[in-house]
Amino acid sequence: MHFVEKQNITIPDFPATGPILDIGGGGEGIIGILKGTQVITIDPHWGELTESAPGPHKVQMNGQRLGFPRETFGTGTSFCTFGYIGDAFHRAVFREIKRVMQSGGTLHFWDISAPAKFKPDKRYFVLPLRVHVRDQTIDTGYGIRWCDHAIDLAYYRDIAEHVGFETIEQASTGHTLFLKLHKR
Ligand SMILES: C[S@@+](CC[C@H](N)C(=O)[O-])C[C@H]1O[C@@H](n2cnc3c(N)ncnc32)[C@H](O)[C@@H]1O
Repeated sequence: MHFVEKQNITIPDFPATGPILDIGGGGEGIIGILKGTQVITIDPHWGELTESAPGPHKVQMNGQRLGFPRETFGTGTSFCTFGYIGDAFHRAVFREIKRVMQSGGTLHFWDISAPAKFKPDKRYFVLPLRVHVRDQTIDTGYGIRWCDHAIDLAYYRDIAEHVGFETIEQASTGHTLFLKLHKR
């Protein structure tokens, strides 16, 4: 494993009406902590969902096949989930999120970025992270399979735009990235 230096990230509150679809909200369940019962969080691994903080509605479901009708949600979120989904499936998951989001809706997307692998013997790229959300400080870490191409802001933005999202905000700090994406 290749470890990089611990980083801080603050997840600010954002306005949202109606239910929020959170992709891969197991583990710490950061979006559930931020938005509580307004969140419907999906994750294919029930064990991950049972670990996350109470509050959101938890549904065992794969982001590649969302069991919701089209145009269901005005707001979507994904916090450090895509790094855990094989990159062969990233386009399919963005496409599914877009399908179930309403026109005019917003997807708030955070993830970690990693350069192209430069240490052939290391399989995972690990970012220890201190997350500030509401009044909580959560020390955690995310390790993604380290691949031969960079996984960064441009990588995710290009895929999201390819499936039809419009980028309205973008930021990259150290090894974290944020995209605010709009469905026309
Ligand atoms: C690092 S955790 C995400 C952290 C979480 N969002 C949080 O707030 O703490 C990555 C999650 O992605 C989930 N995941 C993996 N493949 C997925 C898929 N195809 N669709 C949705 N979630 C997936 C994993 O089960 C895991 O719970």
